[in-house]
Amino acid sequence: MLSVVVLISGTGSNLLALLKAIDSPLVPVRVVAVGSDGPAPGLAHADLYGVPTFVVERSMFPDRESWAKRLQETIEGYSPDLVALAGFMKILPPAFIKRFSPNLINIHASLLPLFPGAHAVRDTLDAGVTETGATIHVVDEGIDTGPVIFQRTVQVMPGDDVATLHERIKVHERELLIETIIGVAENRIDLASI
Ligand code: GAR
Repeated sequence: MLSVVVLISGTGSNLLALLKAIDSPLVPVRVVAVGSDGPAPGLAHADLYGVPTFVVERSMFPDRESWAKRLQETIEGYSPDLVALAGFMKILPPAFIKRFSPNLINIHASLLPLFPGAHAVRDTLDAGVTETGATIHVVDEGIDTGPVIFQRTVQVMPGDDVATLHERIKVHERELLIETIIGVAENRIDLASI
């Protein structure tokens, strides 16, 4: 059984898709906790599935390092095999990444290395490209730079705005997140050799 801690910052639609997908004794994955850096609406999905939640607010700590240390200790309390960033919008310092990587994965709403950062979909539309996508990758010390596990292409449609394009990308992100986590659980994906 693969135990997973999921970190979110917002609506948590990727988290919800994961919780639905593994809600069967035949799937060898358990989300042991869901954490966030603030009062994220997506924590309600964890409540619905009876999964414990925690919040480690960045604003309660004097610097990024002390905040991330508390976040790390809280995660360690659940002894996860894997930590999944599913819309977690804070930058994590090197010490945190060293502690969990390569068992630390992230989803991102672009075809990395194109359009990294917090505004991938807006930046994609601003650039006027016709094709974008979804990426899931192992987290390294850069911002959205780690080794790619899977990518999917999504067409930018005439008339797309940030909301419509992001929603079409998220359909793929959810599948990639589920495919990756179940693949790791079933030993079909070895994150250390990506
Ligand atoms: C996702 O699109 C994810 O790629 C993005 O936040 C969204 C969360 O959606 N993350 C990043 O941009 C990280 N760089 P959700 O809250 O509905 O799951």
